[in-house]
Amino acid sequence: MVERTQSGTEGRKQRKVRRALWTVALVLGLSMILPLTGMLLTGDTTGQAVAQQQSQDDAAALSKAEQQRRDFWREARGGTSGYSAVVGPETGVLIQSGGDVWRAVREGPILRYGGIGLIAVFAAIILFHLIAGTVKLEQRSGRTITRWTLFERVIHWYTAILFIILGITGLSLLFGRTVLSPWMGKEAFAAWAGLAKPIHDWLAVPFVIGLVLMMLPWIKESLPKAYDLTWLKMGGGYFDRSKHPPAGFVNAGEKIWYWLLFFGGIVLVVSGFYLLFPNFGWERSTMQLAHIAHAISGIALIAFSLGHMYLGTLGNQGTLEGMVSGQVDELWAKAHHNLWYEEVMKHGNPKDASSGAGARQPLAT
Ligand code: HEM
Repeated sequence: MVERTQSGTEGRKQRKVRRALWTVALVLGLSMILPLTGMLLTGDTTGQAVAQQQSQDDAAALSKAEQQRRDFWREARGGTSGYSAVVGPETGVLIQSGGDVWRAVREGPILRYGGIGLIAVFAAIILFHLIAGTVKLEQRSGRTITRWTLFERVIHWYTAILFIILGITGLSLLFGRTVLSPWMGKEAFAAWAGLAKPIHDWLAVPFVIGLVLMMLPWIKESLPKAYDLTWLKMGGGYFDRSKHPPAGFVNAGEKIWYWLLFFGGIVLVVSGFYLLFPNFGWERSTMQLAHIAHAISGIALIAFSLGHMYLGTLGNQGTLEGMVSGQVDELWAKAHHNLWYEEVMKHGNPKDASSGAGARQPLAT
């Protein structure tokens, strides 16, 4: 009886142990089967560890991609070639950092000092005129001398008109966004700039032709002479009007204008050539230098031309008529260009077709 009771108790214990073992096996089995089912359903066959590994790899790949991106832009910004498929000089260079320097120079000192310089010259001319006034031609002799031939006058006005149009369009392109756009409004300025650009481009070559034809015949008369120093020391007679400083066919001031136009013109034309024909294969740094040289020489010549225009009109009575009709009064010639006047009186004037090239009796006054 006791034996049966013991064997019954042991049997219950064994069943309990077996049940517990099955339960553990079931839980373990389920815990493995369920994620596996999820993985199978989602296509993830590698499990959580794989997923972890994956995210680490992703991060590494991402930082590698980021590194590559950084390397790419560092090299591209450094001007390394091979970053563009376009064929031609320097076309493989995607970013040329010199452009930043060029923009800073253009939008900094050139606009600032160029603008201030032009305004200062304009203001100085007005001030000078208000203080000193026109150099008057008090008397006329009634006798005239040919100063400028028809060819010289036509070529002077042709070149001058082109210079003025190029100056206005050029200044519009350089200062437009700062000065004109706020005043005219963006759309009107865009329309004007769209017109100014082709005008500036197309008139460049006709201007160069005029400049060469105007400058070449005047080169001999513009060579410096010792008496030019006296003219300069006397301030051209503009301050003490009782004395006439010595001058040949052109005075020292006109010679300075001539040579500024000569050398400034060369810089302007050569730099303009680079800008007008970029397809000849210039590198960007060449174009940037050309642009800076073009802007500086252009502004300088415009500033000096303001002085020239003033002296040729309001500044000196009787001067403009020479460049319009070709004739100047002998008294004007004697006062402004005494050495030329004496020369013409002594040896005649090759330009004076009406009275021949022979000698003349100088005016008594
Ligand atoms: C409205 C504008 C202009 C006026 C009223 C003007 C007037 C004159 C006059 C009157 C002369 C003769 C001076 C004399 O007989 O001694 C002259 C000469 C000359 N002009 Fe002009 N001019 C103008 C624009 C220009 C421009 C834009 C240039 C340059 C592109 C220029 C270049 C010259 C040169 C090189 C001479 C010979 C040197 C001299 O006499 O100064 N002119 N001009």
